[in-house]
Amino acid sequence: TFQALEKAVYPRLLKNRKSDAPIRIWVPGCSTGEEVYSIAMSLLDYLGNRANSYRIQIFGTDINEEAIKKARLGKYVRDIAPDVGRARLGRYFVKTDEGYQISKAVRELCVFAKHDAGSDPPFSRLDLLSCRNLLIYLGPALQRRLISLFHYTLNAGGYLVLGTAETISDFSELFAPVDRKHKIYAKKSTVMRPRFEFAPGAVREPVLPEMPARGLPTRSEFEQQKEAADLLILNQYAPSAVLVNENFEILHFRGHTGPYLEPSPGVASLNLLKMAREGLLMSLRSSLEIARKKNVVARKESVRVEADGAPRFVNLHVAPVKVPGSKQRTLLVVFEDVTPPERAKAGAHARKQGPASDSSEQISSLKHELATAKAYLQSVIEGQEASNEELRSLNEEILSTNEELQSTTEELETANEELQSANEELTTLNEELQHRNQEISLANNDILNLLSSMNLSIVILDRDSRIRRLTPIAQKLLNLIPADIGRPLTDIRLGLDVLNLDQMITEVMETIRPKQLEIQDREGRWYSLQVRPYITAENKIDGAVVVLLDIHDLRQRTAELGQRTAELGQSNDRMQEELLLRRQAEDKFRILFESAPEAILIADANGKIALVNAKTEQLFGYRREELIGNPVDVLVPERFREPHASYRAGYSAEPVARPMGKGRELAGRRKDGSEFSVEISLNPIQTREGLLISSSITDISERLRVAQQAQQGAVLEERNRLARDVHDTLAQGLIGILLQLDAAEDAIDKRPEELRERLASASRLARANLEDARRSVLALRPEDQEPANLIHSLEHFVQSVRTARREKIEFSVQGTPRRLTSEAEENLLRMAQEGLNNAIKHSGATKIRVELIFAPSEVRLRVVDNGKGFSLESPGNGGFGMTSLRERATQIGAQLEIKSSAGKGTRIEISV
Ligand SMILES: C[S@@+](CC[C@H](N)C(=O)[O-])C[C@H]1O[C@@H](n2cnc3c(N)ncnc32)[C@H](O)[C@@H]1O
Repeated sequence: TFQALEKAVYPRLLKNRKSDAPIRIWVPGCSTGEEVYSIAMSLLDYLGNRANSYRIQIFGTDINEEAIKKARLGKYVRDIAPDVGRARLGRYFVKTDEGYQISKAVRELCVFAKHDAGSDPPFSRLDLLSCRNLLIYLGPALQRRLISLFHYTLNAGGYLVLGTAETISDFSELFAPVDRKHKIYAKKSTVMRPRFEFAPGAVREPVLPEMPARGLPTRSEFEQQKEAADLLILNQYAPSAVLVNENFEILHFRGHTGPYLEPSPGVASLNLLKMAREGLLMSLRSSLEIARKKNVVARKESVRVEADGAPRFVNLHVAPVKVPGSKQRTLLVVFEDVTPPERAKAGAHARKQGPASDSSEQISSLKHELATAKAYLQSVIEGQEASNEELRSLNEEILSTNEELQSTTEELETANEELQSANEELTTLNEELQHRNQEISLANNDILNLLSSMNLSIVILDRDSRIRRLTPIAQKLLNLIPADIGRPLTDIRLGLDVLNLDQMITEVMETIRPKQLEIQDREGRWYSLQVRPYITAENKIDGAVVVLLDIHDLRQRTAELGQRTAELGQSNDRMQEELLLRRQAEDKFRILFESAPEAILIADANGKIALVNAKTEQLFGYRREELIGNPVDVLVPERFREPHASYRAGYSAEPVARPMGKGRELAGRRKDGSEFSVEISLNPIQTREGLLISSSITDISERLRVAQQAQQGAVLEERNRLARDVHDTLAQGLIGILLQLDAAEDAIDKRPEELRERLASASRLARANLEDARRSVLALRPEDQEPANLIHSLEHFVQSVRTARREKIEFSVQGTPRRLTSEAEENLLRMAQEGLNNAIKHSGATKIRVELIFAPSEVRLRVVDNGKGFSLESPGNGGFGMTSLRERATQIGAQLEIKSSAGKGTRIEISV
């Protein structure tokens, strides 16, 4: 084990150790010290030359005091050489008569003390604790306590060594094994509080040599009388004597001691040695030491004493006084005067004679004194050694007690800290209580103020129905006065008659259920009387609360309210019905709206979409959530968005039901960006929130496609017409001309007048033909330049007709001209041509007017003549021209108005 310590423990203990930190080792249950000295020797071996640089303290303790005494001496009688080894024997032992003793140097490192490991405070701040073969003698509870205690006493990084048969049992959280075989464990750091307490009063006083108390033991009265008699005899007849304690302090004088003792100068003292007269001291001291130490009677014969210049001879007897059962030891010193009278005289004579006296007697006396002095010196030396030894053990005791005191102090410090923290807790608690107190007094004030300012009549009763508190209103209503506090409520005649109030209160307190009663006072006013249980915070019933509420007005108002509620119920029913009807209407509207074949979109005046139907979603490819709340512009191709905004503004200024952008090409834009032609009709809806515009949108792409086809058909038709025209007019005319010219040829020589007439006729025919041809051509090519411009084409056409005719033909444009769709412009031009041709051909008018008017919301074309007119009813009059006019008007969505009466001319108006 000790070799294992040298290997595993000492190197780690010394690593990074400050040189001034002592190496502290404790060996509890050390018995006669072998374990302690073995540790000391192994540590010294390990340290070698460095041993002097460390302070080493090894404490060996045991409950057995005898064992400790032996340990302290370090003497081993048997032959220990085989156990210790020669080298160590030479280094750490000294040879004695009986065997070997541990050298002084090693012994000085070790401190031995009596110590009960089970109850005395432990040594602390230890680096190593070796407790071998002690735990096995102890019960499991004490074993556990000690292991815990050992953990506490060790420094961090400290080690514990146990005996081979011992373990740390279930304390693996406190110690980690370092060497399982030799049972060496390292302390684990833990924040655990030690599971032990030092036994109260366990600190021992150092064992000091017992001192007898000064004074005599108490005695019985009889004994005292007996002693008084003894004293008398002693004083009269016995030699003088003194009784001293073990410190040679005089306790009692007997007889005449003046010749031998005298008080010494200086501080008053009863010490026998200090009081001894000249010549007596040495003999007295050696006799006292012998008697005290050996417990025998010590004698000195004929000791010479110088008393007041005369020598006296005295026999000294020092006897230990033994009192059975008493611990106190006393010594009786008897002075027996043996001075022969002649010696006394001779002595007096010799002093008179001077120093010339018997020298041989003097020499023998001096020899005697010298022997006495020697013996005395020897006893002093022995006494000194003994007291040195005693002092050493005393010192060790003090050291160990000091250690114990230190660990107790540490424990006390911890306890003090705990007390301090408890004190702090108490201070906090106190503050909290003060704070609570303040809160309670505040709450009390609040309650008082609340009760006095409340317009409620409240009476608080205790368990015996005695009034505890009441509000001012309660005093007034119930005819109570503050002096009624403390009286039972039911004993007082109240201002209100309440039947069985006491019973009601008792019931409430018993059942913990509140009760309520409506009562009337003598004037017929109504009150609600409520009795509630008074429940404390601990859920205990501690009385009742009586509350009186004036409900007179409330009752009246409740009645009124009841009536109102009934009325409201009726009107509510009506509203419910109305709501139902509305819901039905709304459902119908929704069905209609959603199933409409056209896309219907409702937007506000700013163009923000409010509602769309399923067709709109389908037509534009948006879901309705994507449209509602967004500007209607998303559905308009980008290039039309700007004008669209101004149209919308114009419409909002003059909101009437009408088609949108009459005659204009309208297009919608789908979510995917594709465009399609639409026709839109607008309807204003005036709502409380403002103007809403409902647009019904029709996809006319298909219709346009059909119309285009129709137009192509019309071109064919036009060609036919042209062919017909050429055939009917030009060819016929040319044939006529040819016939005239043939006839003229025949008449050249024979009938010159006929010739002239034929030529003239041919010339007329040719002119008329030319005119027809021109018209046909014009009808075929309405404009010289592309693209068509309605104003320009009309002007050109009127101009060309005007030069070939006598009639007065006028053309005018009003308003700010703007472009229409090419289809609208084309058809308008054709209708103007048709109207003008008809007027020229059939009306015989002298004045024809063609007008083009650009109004803000439409464009109007008028052809007016002052010719013979016709009846609209007679079927022949309309002719092909009227039919074609109607067809064209329908094609561009225009309105056609024809006014004509016989002799009053004709007026044709087309609005788009
Ligand atoms: C078997 S000896 C062990 C001696 C030594 N530790 C060894 O291993 O060589 C046990 C010692 O423990 C001591 N002892 C017993 N109970 C004790 C206690 N409560 N406090 C201190 N020592 C005790 C006994 O007096 C005895 O000397």
